[in-house]
Amino acid sequence: MNRREWLTRSGAAAAYAVLAGCQSAPSLLQRGEHNLVRLHLNENPYGPSPAARKAMAEAFDEGHLYTGVPHNELRKLIAEQEGIPADHIVLGSGSGEILNVAGLVYGMNGGEILAPHPTFEQLQQYATAMGATIHRVPLNDRMDHDMEEMSRRISAKTTLVYLCNPNNPTGVLIDGSLLRAFCEEASGRTMVYVDEAYHEFVDSPTHRSMIELVRQGRNIIVSRTASKIHALAGLRIGFGIAKPEIIRTLSRHMTGSVNVVGLRGALASYRDTEYQSISKQRTRRGKETLYALLERMGRRFLRSEGNFAFFHTGRPIEEFRSAMQKEGVLVARPFPPFNDWCRVSIGTEEGMDRFASALQIVFNS
Ligand SMILES: Cc1ncc(COP(=O)(O)O)c(C=O)c1O
Repeated sequence: MNRREWLTRSGAAAAYAVLAGCQSAPSLLQRGEHNLVRLHLNENPYGPSPAARKAMAEAFDEGHLYTGVPHNELRKLIAEQEGIPADHIVLGSGSGEILNVAGLVYGMNGGEILAPHPTFEQLQQYATAMGATIHRVPLNDRMDHDMEEMSRRISAKTTLVYLCNPNNPTGVLIDGSLLRAFCEEASGRTMVYVDEAYHEFVDSPTHRSMIELVRQGRNIIVSRTASKIHALAGLRIGFGIAKPEIIRTLSRHMTGSVNVVGLRGALASYRDTEYQSISKQRTRRGKETLYALLERMGRRFLRSEGNFAFFHTGRPIEEFRSAMQKEGVLVARPFPPFNDWCRVSIGTEEGMDRFASALQIVFNS
């Protein structure tokens, strides 16, 4: 048996492809999805880094042990990388769990949550289930945040302000100085949650992570995730970062815990800076190709700081979405009130080629 046959038979072909710098996991994923191109959930199409894959395979040997040791190791690593003490970090089953728990804590007992619209809705949905009232501030004409209005709408009853930076679905970034000034002022009045799920993709030099205000002991919660640049969405690792008294409150309400395979994968991936920069470069290239395509087609779009982009379809998104699906491409759900805009994730080169072909067919039909 030659090396290629062995790799194929041993199931290691996908890992080999990544090591060799080729395309990776999508073919495995797409097989189960009838070969649909997944551009609807802002996944990283290249799959986990080779180092993370190796660490995860080795983690099976620890499968019988509870996770205290790798859990503490990962908190310590993130603390070192972010320049904060480890007691400022809580691990969640994806950052989704941190969003849910914040929705629960600040949404129960008649909580009132203030958020831009449209934005990522997970915290608001959980808070709604807890009986909270959600106040929404529309994005402005440039689909940018209206920070003045956000500030004006904070009241004595506001229990939490949610911001997503860069925003999902628009990809628009809040200018760093503006955000900092807003957070400094607002955190004196209420809790501020800044969702930084796409932080690692940002290119803009004006970007600032609000972890700098967490360090100052302000009422700020920042969340990050291993799901995006680290391509570990299926492993469910996320982080809440805040001062210790907030971390203790959030921790008391957590219901899940993270597993050893995800922990070991994240430990390897957060140390693998090369993989992160390759991931970022590929995403940037994918975005440039997408912008060029949309420009050629005369479509309006927003320049995104995430691993996705938002563009004008000029027709109802539900109709556009099913037409794209018929051509084998999944794009994101509607984001009202922008019902003729589409959010599309950046896929592999092959995935984006299929997106481009589908788009031509759908727009020409
Ligand atoms: C802005 C934002 N925050 C949080 C999440 C949740 O990600 P996860 O639970 O995988 O960390 C997502 C997922 O798409 C997202 O777009």
